[in-house]
Amino acid sequence: MTTKISSAEMAKQNEYMEKVAALNSQREHPPIAHVHSFGCQQNVSDGEKIKGMLAQMGYGFSESPDGADLVLYNTCAVRENAEDRVFGNVGALKKAKKANPDMLIGVCGCMVQQEHITAKMRRSYPNVDIIFGTHVLHTMPQIIYEALTTRKRQISIPECDGVIAEGIPLRRESALKASIPIMYGCNNFCTYCIVPYVRGRERSRDMEDILAECRGLVQNGCKELLLLGQNVNSYGKDQGTNFSELLRRINDIDGEFRISYMTSHPKDATRELVDTIASCEKVTRHFHLPVQSGSNRILKQMNRGYTRERYLELIDYVKEKLPDVALTSDIIVGFPGETYEDFRETVSLIEQVRYDSLFTFIYSPRKGTKAAEMPDPISAEEKGRWFRELLEVQQNIGCSSYKDYIGKTLRVLCEGEGRTDPALLTGKSRQNIIVDFDGDRSLIGSFVDVEITEALAWALRGKLK
Ligand code: 5AD
Ligand code: SF4
Repeated sequence: MTTKISSAEMAKQNEYMEKVAALNSQREHPPIAHVHSFGCQQNVSDGEKIKGMLAQMGYGFSESPDGADLVLYNTCAVRENAEDRVFGNVGALKKAKKANPDMLIGVCGCMVQQEHITAKMRRSYPNVDIIFGTHVLHTMPQIIYEALTTRKRQISIPECDGVIAEGIPLRRESALKASIPIMYGCNNFCTYCIVPYVRGRERSRDMEDILAECRGLVQNGCKELLLLGQNVNSYGKDQGTNFSELLRRINDIDGEFRISYMTSHPKDATRELVDTIASCEKVTRHFHLPVQSGSNRILKQMNRGYTRERYLELIDYVKEKLPDVALTSDIIVGFPGETYEDFRETVSLIEQVRYDSLFTFIYSPRKGTKAAEMPDPISAEEKGRWFRELLEVQQNIGCSSYKDYIGKTLRVLCEGEGRTDPALLTGKSRQNIIVDFDGDRSLIGSFVDVEITEALAWALRGKLK
């Protein structure tokens, strides 16, 4: 059941923010926080809330943990290497903490929502002062206040689930592109995935709250609204509405801006949704449809809820209705029990779809998930070989599909100076492809038409029309 956190509770947290701000104002210099968010866009979006609350509490920010008064790692649990990095980073702060015992170290987010991780932190990482889970992010002001005033370890990982907190202050990473969570949690229980365990059950924000946020952003000059959810296609199920309706309502807001969304689950992406996207001129022509595997046997073991054939039918429909679409996907290599024949099925699907780009991962066992209990006889070396084989196949596809854009004119949101060549400007096309071009700095923040002249490995080059 979804519960919106009461305004009384939010007001209480506001009071804590004021109390911490009062404490901080007595210091000689404003305190500095280093906040690092690992993982997906959802987590980065949580990071914006964390920074928003900290800014209200009087903190300034630094890119490095050196000399910071508060270091907070907003963690990811989706693969083991992300967790290892957090343990490594926290361990590396030992010296800094010795030199400055007043420094606070905190770990929050998906990783600590797992019991075995919190137990390890409690046991082996005494220098961590603050640990809190994904469901109590809105109580961070209280947690920090208690940590500062009692100097005792604060650990808050309640089992509560299904909460939505509105009105948390935000410190957005960009004025041009904004992330807007539209739903939280996941009900799909793909057998490899930890997310349903650490982010809880699926729950949607009220449409009116989302629309108000979007309107405010557009009025303030925001040019791209990125709608976020673990499975945006199930938005609104708990409220008698759906994602298509939300897209139409946002598309109706006046102004030139783009609407993008992340992530779609192929089992819930309907033809109605594709039709809606085709009819909404502000919605991007980028469809991220994670397939994970091209083998029906593995898809079943993964509990994905679709077959290779149904997925390919959907892709055909997307290509028919959205001829200028860029398709991307996530692939897992080396799922337990996957054979080389299964893997080749994935390769053949990739060759058939011809994605613009892929996010590829080697399977990482996650404690508590079904797949972690399945026999996994293939060696890491063998999985590594398959992984490299896949990358090579995709590299050839990606390069050749970019060539199709040469001679075409794309509408580009100019985001800043070129990353590889600062003499150029860079932006993204409606397909979410990087486009570099020559032009005046005053164009940054606006939409321009660019004729594509060259296809590079990861970007397009062009000239202003
Ligand atoms: N191992 C490897 N990759 C994973 N993903 C999710 N869980 C795992 C795991 N246990 C990948 C999926 C998902 C993306 C966000 O991360 O491809 O779509
Ligand atoms: Fe990481 Fe997944 Fe949590 Fe995002 S939702 S932070 S990818 S575990």
